[in-house]
Amino acid sequence: MPNERGGMTAVVLACCALGALTVAGTLALSRGHLTATPSSSLPTIATEEYGRRLIMQTSELLGPDVADPNLRYNGSRLNCASCHLGAGTEQGTLTLMLTTEHYPRFSARSGVKTDIEDRVNECMTRSMNGRAVPRTSPEMIAMAAYIRSLGGINQAVGASQRKAHEPAGFKTPNRAADLNVGKKTFEERCSACHGMNGLGLRASTDAKRGYVFPPLWGPDSFNDGAGMHRVLTAAKFIKARMPLGMPDLNDDQAFDLAAFINSQPRPEMPNLEQDYPDRKAKPIDNGYGPFADSFPLKQHQYGPFAPIEAFYKQKKAAK
Ligand code: HEC
Ligand code: HEC
Repeated sequence: MPNERGGMTAVVLACCALGALTVAGTLALSRGHLTATPSSSLPTIATEEYGRRLIMQTSELLGPDVADPNLRYNGSRLNCASCHLGAGTEQGTLTLMLTTEHYPRFSARSGVKTDIEDRVNECMTRSMNGRAVPRTSPEMIAMAAYIRSLGGINQAVGASQRKAHEPAGFKTPNRAADLNVGKKTFEERCSACHGMNGLGLRASTDAKRGYVFPPLWGPDSFNDGAGMHRVLTAAKFIKARMPLGMPDLNDDQAFDLAAFINSQPRPEMPNLEQDYPDRKAKPIDNGYGPFADSFPLKQHQYGPFAPIEAFYKQKKAAK
């Protein structure tokens, strides 16, 4: 079992750099089986490795340019890893290392109990603007197996080690976001990669591989029902992860940037008003109504959030 200190780096490096065999080997170790991986588990290894590739190269393998129309599940040209960095192995914001512990659970958005497969399809239909992957397809089995394998690896990583690698948290500024400031910061800090028009940079050598730098809005981006379309979720991600490799923004910058990006055009998902059957459970920064309050939609999209928070706190206390 990896020790507390070197554990995470070793495990994550092994997972990313050396591929599936090492993943499975590490898993076997973390479960305390020190014997060599038996050959009967080889199909599992292949499945997990396929799942990891689907999450890294979702555009190339399941996107709109794939030759087999049956495999075109991803309606955007994003990869799962465009948001779940390092195929979900990065600690903190949008990590997939803890997912096994999170599911099954009740989803306020759909109003029913959901498992990992359901959650993958929520991202497929919203974050990827695509269509649901059948539960019994090799693709779903592989993605879910890979995500579950991360849970095993995560247990081998000590909690303190995990914390040490988490990015800074986000605290909501007590004001409405300023779209003009967001636009200016976008041009200064983001456009070098994501393009002045926010539409990203397509891979020039082989167009079907999708994007080198993913689009932040436009037809190939996430749709308006996605979690990233919530301003506080996006601000948290941006502060923790962007600019890629050198995140250095403060809460105010991340907040204005998130609002500016979410004010831009993107694919629209039908029937969004049916989300959150219990409207009181709707996140206060949800980008679409109806809500169980009378604050204007614009305030839910861009703040200020303190009055909305106070309203729901009071409502809860009164019960
Ligand atoms: C545009 C960004 C984006 C893309 C692309 C994306 N996701 Fe997500 N994903 C999110 C957000 C945001 C959440 C919700 C996090 C939260 O609840 O705070 C999420 C949550 C999840 C979760 C639940 C994590 C947990 O531990 O609760 C899973 C599993 C997941 N995504 C899998 C996928 C898969 C598989 C794909 C590709 C098919 C994908 N995602 C594509 C943004 C994205
Ligand atoms: C050095 C290049 C670079 C810079 C600068 C950069 N990004 Fe990114 N960004 C990326 C890459 C690459 C990804 C996808 C992650 C991956 O594939 O590993 C990404 C992903 C994203 C995503 C999620 C995926 C999507 O397309 O919606 C958002 C949102 C985002 N960046 C916002 C920003 C913002 C805001 C800034 C400016 C503060 C910024 N980025 C600056 C390279 C960059």
